[in-house]
This record gives sequence, structure tokens and C-alpha cells, in this order.
Amino acid sequence: IICACAIITNNKKNLFKKGKVMKVLVFDTIELLYEKLLEEFLTEIKNNPEINLGLATGSTTELLYKGLILDHLENKTSYKDVKVFNLDEYVGLDKEHPQSYAYFMKESLFKHLDINLDNTFIPNGVTTNFSLELANYDQLLKDNQIDLQLLGIGPNSHIAFNEPGSSFDSKTSLVELTEDTRMANSRFFSDLDEVPTQALTMGIGSILNAKRIILVATGPKKAQAIKDTIEGVITTNIPSSILRIHPNIQIYLDKEAAKLLDI
Ligand code: F6R
Repeated sequence: IICACAIITNNKKNLFKKGKVMKVLVFDTIELLYEKLLEEFLTEIKNNPEINLGLATGSTTELLYKGLILDHLENKTSYKDVKVFNLDEYVGLDKEHPQSYAYFMKESLFKHLDINLDNTFIPNGVTTNFSLELANYDQLLKDNQIDLQLLGIGPNSHIAFNEPGSSFDSKTSLVELTEDTRMANSRFFSDLDEVPTQALTMGIGSILNAKRIILVATGPKKAQAIKDTIEGVITTNIPSSILRIHPNIQIYLDKEAAKLLDI
């Protein structure tokens, strides 16, 4: 696997603060990318059976979750002491709604593992008290530092649902989704009008507090966002650009997502 990817430390461009190196791995095939990603997750979980995982939803996560399920069936890796903290949830969709992220996590991962559902956390998009919900989620993240955070990225460079313009020290917030994001996510709904206009999201400040972050992007629609993340200026207009200051971040890309990089 190592040979199938290029490791770019990009220090020639002096983009990173001294001592901090963002590792970018470009894989020849999607299969190789997810094989290596799965291996990393399994190593971390086996090294720390009480690991706090920060997980995402969406297309990018699906092959990893399938891999974790298969491994659980074949090798009996246990999740009984693992805690999972999800990044975000749509406002207005309850956990039984097929497009809610709580439902996605249950169907795509949790119900296939031996995880205790009481150890899985996701903001509640149908709460009657949003300010309390946001404060509680922040407290939860303060009390449970995330050991390994999985991130996807939006075509507009959002991470979680922190859209362009979000402050880099944001906490868990109720945010308006941009039209770009609603359009991109409308593929999961029967109609654009059904896509919620708001979401609850872990803030960028909390994401940066994770001990380790792996961001995954595949396909040509992510290429510009990846170029901006790695080679552009660090600006709130590119929420993902702040990941460059994190001391332990790796970016996993297929060739299509990496195609605009200056390598
Ligand atoms: C989802 C999330 C989002 C997605 C991003 C990419 O929990 O936080 O930031 O990671 O929108 O979505 P996909 O993977 O569907 O392209």
C-alpha cells in the first residue's frame, strides 16, 4: 500500500508552521485508499479499546464503515468500550428519518457492531431547546477529547457543516446551510425542497481539539476544495484550510481529488 501512494510533505512551499507537517497521501485507486484507511482505524481501535472516535456521515464514509463491519464479523474487533461522537445533524429531522445522520449512523455502522448505543452521540436536530443542546454537546466534547477524527469535505471546503465564513474557534452551533451544500446533498433526497436549510454542527474549534485527524476526499468534485485546503491561504472562506495548523493530520486522496495539486 505504501508504494501505491505518494507522500507529499509540501515543506518546499513553506506552507506549514515549523515542526508541523501535513501528510497528504494520494492513492492510485479508491480500493487502496480505503484499505489503508481501514488499517489505520483498526490499529487505533485495537491499541485503545476505549477510544473516542469522531465520525462523519456521507458518501466518503461508506466504504470505511463497510470495512469496519466486515472486520468485526471476521475478526471480532470489539466496540463495546468505544465512544463515537458525530459531527453534525440536520435541523428538523429526527433519528427515525431516513435522511437524518442519526439514522445513517445506525444503519450504516452501529447496528452491525457490538457498540453500546449509549456511547454514541450526535446533536439532536429536533430538540425543543437548541441553546441547551449546543451547550451540552460542547460540554460532552470537552469531557471526552476525540482521539481520532474522520472528516469528509464539501465541494465548498466545509468541514462538518462549518460553511465558508465560519470562525475558526467556533463551538457547536446551529448554522444555515449554503445553497451549494443543499444542492450537493439533494442527491440523498427526492427533491431539493426537502433538504433542510439548517443544521447543528460541531465547531471548527472542537474539531481542531482532536488528537488526530484524517480527512478523506475522492472524486473530481472535491479537487478545487483540496487544492484550496492544501495550497491556498488560510482563511475562514476556506474552512478546511485551518486544518493545516493541526499537529497530527493526514489527508487521504484519490487521483481525481488530487488532480489540481501542484505536485
Ligand atoms: C457529514 C459532514 C460533511 C461531509 C461532506 C462531504 O457528516 O460532516 O462535511 O463530510 O459534506 O460529504 P460526502 O462524503 O457525501 O461527499
